[in-house]
Amino acid sequence: MHLTELNLALSAESPRSILKQALQQHDRIALSFSGAEDVVLVDMLSKLTDQPNIFTLDTGRLHPETYAFIERARDHYQTSIQVFTPQSAPLQKLVNEKGLFSFYKDGHQECCGIRKIEPLERALAPLDAWITGQRRDQSPGTRSEVPVVQADTRFSGRGDHLIKYNPLANWTSQQVWDYIRMMEIPYNPLHERGFISIGCEPCTRPTLPGQHEREGRWWWEEATHKECGLHAGNLSEAATET
Ligand code: ADX
Ligand code: SF4
Repeated sequence: MHLTELNLALSAESPRSILKQALQQHDRIALSFSGAEDVVLVDMLSKLTDQPNIFTLDTGRLHPETYAFIERARDHYQTSIQVFTPQSAPLQKLVNEKGLFSFYKDGHQECCGIRKIEPLERALAPLDAWITGQRRDQSPGTRSEVPVVQADTRFSGRGDHLIKYNPLANWTSQQVWDYIRMMEIPYNPLHERGFISIGCEPCTRPTLPGQHEREGRWWWEEATHKECGLHAGNLSEAATET
């Protein structure tokens, strides 16, 4: 089935059903788990298969609570979570030349490139498809058009085509949290302290009532640029719309 048709067909399905069909379509498929509310996908996936393929990108700058939570998820679901870390040579060059907080001065792209994007490229290289926790309501500026399934035009997998599934695309934050509470699944304790969207510690802050969750990420930068590159396709799509 063509991807556009598949997207149309899956758009009306539940996240669990989207995941199930994604697993049926691909053997080499993995969930990219950030240690935040995308734990709902860890929960659904581990109920659909005995051997979920899950990875996380350890940037070296996550909150202690997020590290602890990733381990908690590993224990709770009795699953392996593959951890990808940045390569030391480019990282040492960056921090030795520009210091540990260069992103506040010249933008987050360089640091994200080394700490997230290159490790993600390694994680995706053996895959045919990957699964993310992106939702449309996470960022009006860049994610409002996120489809349930799409061709990943930024990254490459094992073959010519890398497919990206966003099973939560059509879910709201409310639905995610209803699921977390209803299923009594563990969650990152930072959510109890005003953090809605959670990324690296120096680049994430709690949001105030009335603020959008994305305002807690890279708050010193333009709202429309708040993608670190993991989902770079969103930026080019947003750019072509303006
Ligand atoms: S980000 O691009 O701005 O950092 P966000 O935090 O909204 O992304 O998370 C959206 C999805 O991107 C997550 O559900 C997850 O699939 C993926 N993701 C983000 N950060 C990580 C990470 N550190 N490790 C693995 N996946 C991640
Ligand atoms: Fe670096 Fe911040 Fe990007 Fe994390 S979010 S990789 S600390 S710039």
